[in-house]
Amino acid sequence: MKSENKPSVCVVGLGYIGLPTAAVIARAGCKVLGLDVSQRVVDTINRGEIHIEEVDLEGLVQGVVSRGLLSAAIEVAPADVFVIAVPTPFDKDHAPDISYVLAAGRTIAPVLKAGDVVILESTSPVGTTEQLRDMIAEMRPDLKVPGLVGETPDISIAYCPERVLPGRILEELTNNDRSIGGITPRCARKALAFYKRFVRGECVTTDARSAEMTKLVENAYRDVNIAFANELSIVSDRMGLDVWEVIRLANRHPRVNILSPGPGVGGHCIAVDPWFIVHGAPKETPLIRTARGVNDGKMHHVIAKAEALVEAHPDAKVACLGLAFKANIDDFRESPARFVTSRLARKFGRRIHVVEPYAAELPIEFTDTGAVQIDIDDALETCDILIVLVDHDVFRVVPLAERADKLVYDTRGIWPDQPRAVREEDARLKLVG
Ligand SMILES: NC(=O)c1ccc[n+]([C@@H]2O[C@H](COP(=O)([O-])OP(=O)(O)OC[C@H]3O[C@@H](n4cnc5c(N)ncnc54)[C@H](O)[C@@H]3O)[C@@H](O)[C@H]2O)c1
Repeated sequence: MKSENKPSVCVVGLGYIGLPTAAVIARAGCKVLGLDVSQRVVDTINRGEIHIEEVDLEGLVQGVVSRGLLSAAIEVAPADVFVIAVPTPFDKDHAPDISYVLAAGRTIAPVLKAGDVVILESTSPVGTTEQLRDMIAEMRPDLKVPGLVGETPDISIAYCPERVLPGRILEELTNNDRSIGGITPRCARKALAFYKRFVRGECVTTDARSAEMTKLVENAYRDVNIAFANELSIVSDRMGLDVWEVIRLANRHPRVNILSPGPGVGGHCIAVDPWFIVHGAPKETPLIRTARGVNDGKMHHVIAKAEALVEAHPDAKVACLGLAFKANIDDFRESPARFVTSRLARKFGRRIHVVEPYAAELPIEFTDTGAVQIDIDDALETCDILIVLVDHDVFRVVPLAERADKLVYDTRGIWPDQPRAVREEDARLKLVG
């Protein structure tokens, strides 16, 4: 890396993480090439447009593309810093799939040169950064890689996970603290110097394996704590209690902070990453594995309760509010709301009306179910039962006057003022699960 100049950067994978990262680095004045395997993604970005929904991203991308700081391509080119942000899903047995990371490594290996820094940002099982290093070493025997040779290596390799919240990605990309794990301390220092160019949060260096584990632990922590809240909600249903009231009161204890229950846990992080720990240490992770089961089980509890509610009111029109995996975003991956709604649509067909302001159309699994998409105003005008599955702001702000006469099943607790009588009617239904 030329210290006097701004490094040229190649970001591999231009999705929810890669594109905002590429744009923020470009805004800091570095010339950025974004690589993606999708021609559609590449063409969209080169027009200065975006293919994902994220607050303020479109304006930023338009600006850096028009100033010539960001461009996208399918073909790799030499750069000083490579940032990999490709998917890391799991397979049907919950085993992590790092094939995209290794594919990204195979793409960049031929253009690496002495002085380059390679940073993996994808959420990865412990040891992945070393596997990436081993693959580069195999493909480029001419380069000295870190950790395998005693001498000063030619390139630096580090792991730096992302912990941004969708909807606040641009702000959190720059302001959050970061853990930067080098294969060696020198690698960590090289990566640190790069992040200092655009991160205002504190950057803490460590080794690559600790940084990989830290990311997984953060999401497993969230999952376990949400599982506690979800279990409480099922217990409260069984006992005829209002879980929101119980949690509100318990949280007045100075050292208690119970999270909010919901229809399950979705997205590609919290519902996925704990499995990477379980896979790495199956016998040592009963709590983490059980939390996953509790959160998936909550989704089936919500389906059973919603089905009972809809069946008990055969003439009622039903609106399901939200499909996204969390509030105010257009991301529907692993979404419990989407799963619950599609199950109801398959069972009750035309009676189900789906409200999702962040979806232009219903996902594929709704085809031929008879369910239709309507907006929140139509739902409030025409539907008798409202099933709240996502706490989008646009739902949260609906005043009591517009929903007071509705039968509401609020899995997110967004309407604490909903008349008690209606809630008790829910609770009196015979529930399964
Ligand atoms: N989205 C989040 O909120 C979030 C938060 C923290 C961490 N992460 C992690 O970041 C990583 C990326 O997640 P994402 O949400 O940005 O994924 P994404 O699916 O939105 O984007 C990934 C992009 O990579 C491209 N791609 C796949 N293989 C490629 C290859 N070999 N070369 C070039 N491009 C390739 C895809 O076409 C896609 O555009 C994952 O490991 C994820 O777990 C995501």
